[in-house]
Amino acid sequence: MSRKWLVPLILASVLPMASQQTPRRRAPVTGPEAKIERLLRQMTIEEKVGQMTQVTIDVVSVPNAVGRNHRIDPQKLEEAILKWKVGSILNVNGEAYTVDHWHEILNAIQDVVEKSRLKIPVLYGIDSIHGANYTLDAVLFPNAISAAATWNLDLVRKSAQISAFQTRASGIPWTFYPVMDIGRQPLWPRFWETFGEDVYLASRMGAAYTEGLQGSDVSARDKVAACIKHYAGYSMPFNGKDRTPAILDERTMRSVILPPYEAVARAGAPTAMINSSEISGVPGHANSWLINQVLKKEWGFRGFVVSDWEDIKRLHTRDRVAATPKDAVRIAVMAGVDMSMVPYDYSFAELLLQCVKEGSVPVSRIDDAVRRILRVKMQLGLFDRPRPDPAMKAQFDKPEFHQTNLEAAREALVLLKNDGALPLARGRKILVTGPNADLLSVLNGGWSLTWQGNREDLFPKSKPTILKAIQSLNNGGAVQYVKGVEWEKEVDIRAAVAAAASADVIVAVMGEPTYCETPGNIEDLALPEPQIRLVDALAATGKPVITVLVGGRPRVLRTVTKNSKGLLWAGLPGNEGGRAVAEVLFGDVNPSGKLPFSYPRNVNGFTTYDHKPLESTHDNPTGWEFPFGHGLTYTTFAYSDLQLSGKSMARNGSIFVTVKVKNTGRRPAKEVVQLYVSDLYRQVSPPNKELKGFQKIGLGPGDETVVRFELAAKDLAFVGLENKWILEPGEHKVQIANLTSGFVLR
Ligand code: BGC
Repeated sequence: MSRKWLVPLILASVLPMASQQTPRRRAPVTGPEAKIERLLRQMTIEEKVGQMTQVTIDVVSVPNAVGRNHRIDPQKLEEAILKWKVGSILNVNGEAYTVDHWHEILNAIQDVVEKSRLKIPVLYGIDSIHGANYTLDAVLFPNAISAAATWNLDLVRKSAQISAFQTRASGIPWTFYPVMDIGRQPLWPRFWETFGEDVYLASRMGAAYTEGLQGSDVSARDKVAACIKHYAGYSMPFNGKDRTPAILDERTMRSVILPPYEAVARAGAPTAMINSSEISGVPGHANSWLINQVLKKEWGFRGFVVSDWEDIKRLHTRDRVAATPKDAVRIAVMAGVDMSMVPYDYSFAELLLQCVKEGSVPVSRIDDAVRRILRVKMQLGLFDRPRPDPAMKAQFDKPEFHQTNLEAAREALVLLKNDGALPLARGRKILVTGPNADLLSVLNGGWSLTWQGNREDLFPKSKPTILKAIQSLNNGGAVQYVKGVEWEKEVDIRAAVAAAASADVIVAVMGEPTYCETPGNIEDLALPEPQIRLVDALAATGKPVITVLVGGRPRVLRTVTKNSKGLLWAGLPGNEGGRAVAEVLFGDVNPSGKLPFSYPRNVNGFTTYDHKPLESTHDNPTGWEFPFGHGLTYTTFAYSDLQLSGKSMARNGSIFVTVKVKNTGRRPAKEVVQLYVSDLYRQVSPPNKELKGFQKIGLGPGDETVVRFELAAKDLAFVGLENKWILEPGEHKVQIANLTSGFVLR
């Protein structure tokens, strides 16, 4: 485990970001900063509020001309850039465009910029969530929850590099990603956009992803600027629905919610998007403590903060903390929001201008926001190279991109249960059933070619669905498909049961349709009843049922677990998911994914693995269907010889933890070695255990290796009674697999 990245978590409130430290005495401003100051001095107040304004592409497009028919309206574009002087445009109008069309759009924008007084480039932003998902024929990777299930930082970094490559090749330099909201509320329809429930795993995944997107120089022709979102606490709605309130105290914020965002800020993400919802009565866009105090002051963040969609207006229309639309603008800008995703009109610029004229928003605050926006444009090299690069377009697609995606999909699959029915023998008669067997869209989920991801016709015909992949890998054995059920309703369970009579084995591909944001709200975490009935009925035939779960949330399985001889959680594995699932079912690939969340057994079973002691008492059994970190393989591993280099640790010291891991089975396999630490007593109730390190290793049959972790005192810090990160002496337990040991922090 590299300790480097964790240091800042502990020193968070005392150190500004190292690379962005402000010198004590004012040195003469040179380089890009001097250029920014020169520009600022030349800008009128209208140009400044324009920079802070972001509109959606619809505003500059011919109405109702979507997808292939999309056209920019030149007059509206001139109005946006020359009259309103907008700093940023975002989004896609309806559905993904070709690379060529993106180039036309970006070039058209720059043509108008060149007619403007100061020629400040427009920053285009897009939601490249799992690849360049708004460009046709881009690689669609596993979504975050499945990426986290790989526990493979290299693969995640590589996926991000390719996503950046194809986004920038489309001419777009900025993605609204990664999502650093922690995934602890499985009802939330954006659960799958998170890297799961664990602070450490999510922080490392997010940092690796950001490194992949930005590299060491974000101005490089194949890199894009990242955006930390949705800052902060968006993922914890009390009732599980999108954009509803969370109730979070400062200690929980600092210990569980904020660290993943901070890890990505420190990995260099230069923009942040605000939580569309509210925390303990304070809307994200009015939360000066979170934006001004924590993000900008404590973490020393020098990039800019963008609102989420229409959310400044909503401070008035929805949240009612602002009595007028103008007051909403004042509150958000004074809380630290630098750019408004308005996104359908220019009201923000007009109202902000009024605030400045009245004096309710000082010009110094406007200058601060514009300075931050110009800095990011400068870092991206947009002043020098504002246009899309035609050479990049020519290299858009490469075979190795698809290979990386296939590896990611393979490693994302989690084998939850296997009663010996897997892997499947080839050439047998297979009945495939269920709503998700023959669709590519459901493997990808939302943010896939369209917002809701449900336009099956837009997905590449070259990629197999799960059904097609099973057909092609079954060596000519008969594969029959009977759907049986839709997601929420029965189609014909009797037909599926009848077909089972002539099958050797049944593969039931269950789960969820595609969804994104509020349209994905549900009232019940259980797998819809018709799907459960189908598995029950098929199991009653006595034929072995293998259930594959495709979707973005852990839907409660009821009798499905018991009735399935094999259970594979496929999550949202992306466009190679069909092939990867079939390869795992036939044993061509040995599964190595591990759950990045605790799979609940019951609809109220929201207990995370790092729960408090009082959550796992006799009266409160945790009741997971499958625990965090769980995932089977077709081999067996033996853990032995857990050793600590010392029995005590100094306050600024560290110890080494080693363990032997042996592949005792007959197949080569990958294993995720997970290091957990429990603080036995502390001034605020300690979590049951906390993940402090992991390594994904590969071992051949019979091979043994020693895995070594360094555990530093800093890793044992926690947020104490005073809401500050502290260290407290005392006993700690170390756990790897079923082995435990202990040491004392002096
Ligand atoms: C979502 C953001 C997204 C933005 C722009 C909002 O509705 O909450 O995650 O980046 O739209 O598309």
